[in-house]
Amino acid sequence: MALASVATIVALWTIALTGGDGGDDVTAPWDRHRLSSALVPERYNISLWPRLNRDPNSGLYIFTGKSTVEFECVKETQLILIHSNKLNYTVLNNTHTVRVTATGGGSAPGVQSTWLQMDTQYLVIQLDSELIPGQRYQLYTEFTGELADDLAGFYRSEYEEDGTRKIMAVSQMHPTHARKTFPCFDEPAMKSVFYITLTHPPGTVALSNGMETEIVNTTVEGVAVTQTTTHTDPYMGSPVGHRSGTRDYALNVTGPVLDFLQSYYNISYPLSKSDQIAIPDFYFGAMENWGLVTYRETNLLYDPLTSSIRNKETTVTIIAHELAHMWFGNLVTLRWWNEVWLNEGFASYVSYLGADHAEPAWNLKDLIILTTIVRPDQIGQQFDVISYSKGAAVLRMLSDFLSESIFVQGLSRYLNHFAYSNTVGNDLWQQLQLVVEANNVSLPGPVCDIMNRWVLQMGFPVVTIDTTTGAVSQKHFLLDPESKVTVESPYRYEWMIPVRWMKSGEVQRDRWWLMEKEAVNLEMKTGGLWILANVNVTGFYRVNYDLGNWERLLTQLDSEHQVIPVINRASWWTMLSTWPGASVHFQVSPNFHAWFHSAQLISTSLALRTTSYLLLETEYMPWQSALNNLQYYDLMLDRTDAYQPMQNYMRKLVTPLFLHFKNITSNWTRVPDGLTDQYNQVNAISMGCKTGLTECQSLTTAWFKQWMENPTDNPIHPNLRTTVYCSAVAAGDEAEWEFGWSQFKNATLASEASKLMSALACTKNKQLLQRYLSHTLNPAMIRKQDATSVITSVASNREGQSLAWDFVRDQWEYMFTQYGVGSFSFASMISGVTARFSTAAELQQLEEFVKQNSAAGFGSATLAVEQAVERTRANIKWLQLNQQEILDWFNSQSRHQTQRHCADTRLTCNKDE
Ligand SMILES: *[C@@H]1O[C@H](CO)[C@@H](O)[C@H](O)[C@H]1NC(C)=O
Ligand SMILES: *[C@@H]1O[C@H](CO)[C@@H](O)[C@H](O)[C@H]1NC(C)=O
Ligand SMILES: *[C@@H]1O[C@H](CO)[C@@H](O)[C@H](O)[C@H]1NC(C)=O
Ligand SMILES: *[C@@H]1O[C@H](CO)[C@@H](O)[C@H](O)[C@H]1NC(C)=O
Ligand SMILES: *[C@@H]1O[C@H](CO)[C@@H](O)[C@H](O)[C@H]1NC(C)=O
Ligand SMILES: *[C@@H]1O[C@H](CO)[C@@H](O)[C@H](O)[C@H]1NC(C)=O
Ligand SMILES: *[C@@H]1O[C@H](CO)[C@@H](O)[C@H](O)[C@H]1NC(C)=O
Ligand SMILES: [Zn+2]
Repeated sequence: MALASVATIVALWTIALTGGDGGDDVTAPWDRHRLSSALVPERYNISLWPRLNRDPNSGLYIFTGKSTVEFECVKETQLILIHSNKLNYTVLNNTHTVRVTATGGGSAPGVQSTWLQMDTQYLVIQLDSELIPGQRYQLYTEFTGELADDLAGFYRSEYEEDGTRKIMAVSQMHPTHARKTFPCFDEPAMKSVFYITLTHPPGTVALSNGMETEIVNTTVEGVAVTQTTTHTDPYMGSPVGHRSGTRDYALNVTGPVLDFLQSYYNISYPLSKSDQIAIPDFYFGAMENWGLVTYRETNLLYDPLTSSIRNKETTVTIIAHELAHMWFGNLVTLRWWNEVWLNEGFASYVSYLGADHAEPAWNLKDLIILTTIVRPDQIGQQFDVISYSKGAAVLRMLSDFLSESIFVQGLSRYLNHFAYSNTVGNDLWQQLQLVVEANNVSLPGPVCDIMNRWVLQMGFPVVTIDTTTGAVSQKHFLLDPESKVTVESPYRYEWMIPVRWMKSGEVQRDRWWLMEKEAVNLEMKTGGLWILANVNVTGFYRVNYDLGNWERLLTQLDSEHQVIPVINRASWWTMLSTWPGASVHFQVSPNFHAWFHSAQLISTSLALRTTSYLLLETEYMPWQSALNNLQYYDLMLDRTDAYQPMQNYMRKLVTPLFLHFKNITSNWTRVPDGLTDQYNQVNAISMGCKTGLTECQSLTTAWFKQWMENPTDNPIHPNLRTTVYCSAVAAGDEAEWEFGWSQFKNATLASEASKLMSALACTKNKQLLQRYLSHTLNPAMIRKQDATSVITSVASNREGQSLAWDFVRDQWEYMFTQYGVGSFSFASMISGVTARFSTAAELQQLEEFVKQNSAAGFGSATLAVEQAVERTRANIKWLQLNQQEILDWFNSQSRHQTQRHCADTRLTCNKDE
């Protein structure tokens, strides 16, 4: 069985990359590159049948298709022009290759003649009388095309799996290949509705960016096949049932973002239109088709009534990201994918600037720091997260040491110089260099020399400053200091490092460059003053200090933390943390195995000490960063003696934050104003309830109860739903769960359904968890696309971890055939289910599991499985090294921290402390 045959259809338009439309009326319409505006397509009904075996007659791989396109005539014409390329048409009933009928049964003109106009790629249809304006017609054709391996249109992709050759039929319509798949009005303005039926061998999977509306097993031309019908709707951009108004936010911000980008790049928007469509079931977050960006529905649609502010931020940043590509990526395109990091890093960097312009009150620019902090479980299966975040971080550093104005001048030069052509990364450095020289900017070397060290060398440096001597050194940051560097570097892992630093609260005026492995900067010999290097974390490196300086920094944090910039406070904890995944912050190594070895720069107790000042912290970024990092401790410790002391400690830390938000929201009757305050309110409630703060639990339970009593009127603010649902389901039992389940089944909005879906995994009732897991085997209960995410959510629940692991092992065969091949979420399920593994027994179970299933292999999860084994080993080692120290620390700290805090501030300490 050709398990892996996947037929994918993505219907996209981009601008016709052709000229010649000079408005010269003398040329025949079929010699012009642009369609006339006489006909407007409304809907396509397309049936495609890719043959995954060679056609015995021609020896080719082919596909056959049938298409009905319905269009409206808006100007009378005797001609139908429709794009078509490399398609052979079947003569219908011994007459013509097309049939034209009138919608609704009226009469249609007869077909006089048809031909293919090769150079302009049209199917031309001459009629014997005029089409009538206002009337709709249908054009029916049958055709055959080659399923070639040319990466264009509907094409063939082959790969090896377990020694077997597999064939996939895939589509790439971008830029002008839709016409190579079916006859179509292949221009950006000609949007339409699509009904696509894919015919494929039974047992294979057909995917499309539209929703599956029907799957049937049937017989066609004597062959048993499965037919999968899908439906996309670029007009509406969403399935029927959406409240109108969900597109308003996207529309509202697109204009300001485009305005910003035009002035930032100093080039006007290169296209005549900018369409953005939301597509249900879209694999990527978005695709930057030029002039027609496609988005995953939840990323583009924002519903003021039910979407959270997080949805809103996602919408504006992703729009800014995709639109940034309209210039950087589409107008000027990097030659090959090895430099995709530049393309993506660039768009990611600029997206924060563009979004900041659209939402100036949100301080979005600083948040880039958090998105470049990525956890290993998110990365295992997403290589591109690395290139996005490293690229963005390196470009942010470049813009910082050049100054933003020099940076954008160089950028604009680059885009103008290379408009409509292709480049390599060096072209960008060279254009920047010209601007640097013209402006006499002083740098320690040419831009390309500086940048190539950051771009071409794996990883990043750690800078160590000894404030007792002023000695400063750099070293390649290695996760496993014992491992050998496997990739030689012509730069010997030395970087030219721009160091902006502050001394006891004062930012030093000049940027200092660390150019060698070891140097001395006597100004950094400070006596009793503290130093903070890499101010605002603009540099792509970590900093370590002598212990005395660390102590002084901690003292500063505990007394007046605001003196240290909030971005540094946010990256603080990551910088110090010693757990295996922490180093992924700046990870660039393609060698995943190395990630899971800890590079212990400082002691775990010192790292933990940096959290104690959080009692006084109300800013979002430091909290978020700390929580991201503590999550690992949580995973490792939640089945050990250290769990309760850690919960107690965390509850004490978060109590003042919880009360702070209670106060500024007038007893939870509203949400705070700022974006990051709204985010941090979620943290306060989520951490408060999770760590057992009774006031928090009463709050969320009461809200949920209120909703249960009146299901049509949800009193819970959209921002808080994910966390309130979870904590209410966790505190509740069957009634809460059943209510959540019925709301989930009835949810009309994807984002609301997904909040409920993750909340249902929060219950502490094992029977409910078990039931929930078993629902994933039944697509009528849990859609297939959601099954792995349900399993992963159950596994992330302390009570559900072992249930999920057992379930995965029991149902392995089903899952492997259903989700295994080509599915990234399958890999994340493996990482999710094994995330807590930290005992010898678990390692043994995992290894047995690997052995038992190695014959069939693990498909797309192969890497994830290997990583799970590696990570389990690293976790075991980490626990052995740190468990006692952590237990002692939590035991000793929690009590006196609270006492001090209660004395220090006017906040009421929780009664049950
Ligand atoms: C061919 O002719 C038959 C009988 O006139 C008709 O039923 C059928 O729909 C025609 N097929 C096409 C493709 O026009
Ligand atoms: C289409 O027709 C041409 C000319 O007869 C032929 O060479 C080509 O192989 C055909 N393509 C397919 C896919 O049948
Ligand atoms: C169609 O057949 C395949 C394989 O024979 C089977 O796995 C699948 O469940 C069937 N689908 C339907 C909708 O009957
Ligand atoms: C879009 O802008 C209009 C006009 O400024 C405003 O009334 C509306 O609330 C905005 N919609 C959203 C979802 O932001
Ligand atoms: C650091 O970033 C903040 C914004 O978070 C900004 O206000 C401040 O000026 C920056 N500091 C330096 C030294 O650039
Ligand atoms: C409560 O908030 C008000 C302003 O909204 C502020 O003045 C007051 O200090 C806050 N109280 C506490 C205990 O945080
Ligand atoms: C919040 O509730 C407390 C006690 O219930 C009350 O004293 C206080 O005035 C309330 N604050 C606001 C802003 O509603
Ligand atoms: Zn991108």
